[in-house]
Amino acid sequence: MNIGVLGTGFVGQTIATALVENGHRVMIGSRSANNAKAIAWVENKVNAFAGTFEEAAQFADIIFLCINGAFIKETINALDSAMFTDKIIIDVSNPLDFSKGMPPSILPAYSNQWSLGEEIQQLLPKAKAVKALNTVTARLMVNAELVNEGNHHLFICGNDTEAKNTVKHLLSENFRWKPEYIIDMGPIGQSRLMEGIVPFWVGVMQAICTPMFNTLIVK
Ligand SMILES: NC(=O)c1ccc[n+]([C@@H]2O[C@H](COP(=O)([O-])OP(=O)(O)OC[C@H]3O[C@@H](n4cnc5c(N)ncnc54)[C@H](OP(=O)(O)O)[C@@H]3O)[C@@H](O)[C@H]2O)c1
Repeated sequence: MNIGVLGTGFVGQTIATALVENGHRVMIGSRSANNAKAIAWVENKVNAFAGTFEEAAQFADIIFLCINGAFIKETINALDSAMFTDKIIIDVSNPLDFSKGMPPSILPAYSNQWSLGEEIQQLLPKAKAVKALNTVTARLMVNAELVNEGNHHLFICGNDTEAKNTVKHLLSENFRWKPEYIIDMGPIGQSRLMEGIVPFWVGVMQAICTPMFNTLIVK
């Protein structure tokens, strides 16, 4: 599959590397065509490419959105939305404000009554946004078995049921998430909840001194 990973940070690179290792053709995207991190990422890899955000979106059957949450709106506004038509966007982003220290708060524009997931779906109405993986650390995103043999829960949401099923399948085939541990929270508006718990997640990380943990829902 051709997969576009928009974002050259640790998350984008971690996801892109795992996808290449699983046999996909991956283009990592950034604001510029000659981004140093993207070029370095491509080196010594097969089926790995670098391009602009637009080129990576155009290349892709499925897109991972791994951009800094504070800049997603302006980034998408600057892109040609046609590149995203009918494509699934797996949105791992969080709208965090670190300006007042740790743990972060949610950027005011996305707290309580609106979320980044909804914003992305509204900006790209012909794409199918699925919020996923934003509630775990990057290394765990791509290998669920690093915690409790994979027995822990992942939340996803989105408006398109078929798109969510495709994402569940992709996460299970490539990143070892057990389908029975993926909780479909409902439509994209549930991003408010999935993004809202992230400052709490950061607080737990500080308390237990590791990011390598996740939620297990017990009934
Ligand atoms: N760190 C984690 O473990 C974790 C876990 C869950 C979710 N997330 C979320 O995943 C996303 C990616 O996180 P990250 O730590 O890998 O990367 P990041 O530093 O938050 O974001 C890097 C990406 O944002 C892009 N960007 C667009 N406009 C920007 C601007 N004006 N200034 C700076 N960067 C801009 C950068 O573009 P260029 O490529 O052109 O530089 C780069 O591709 C974030 O939304 C984060 O909240 C992170």
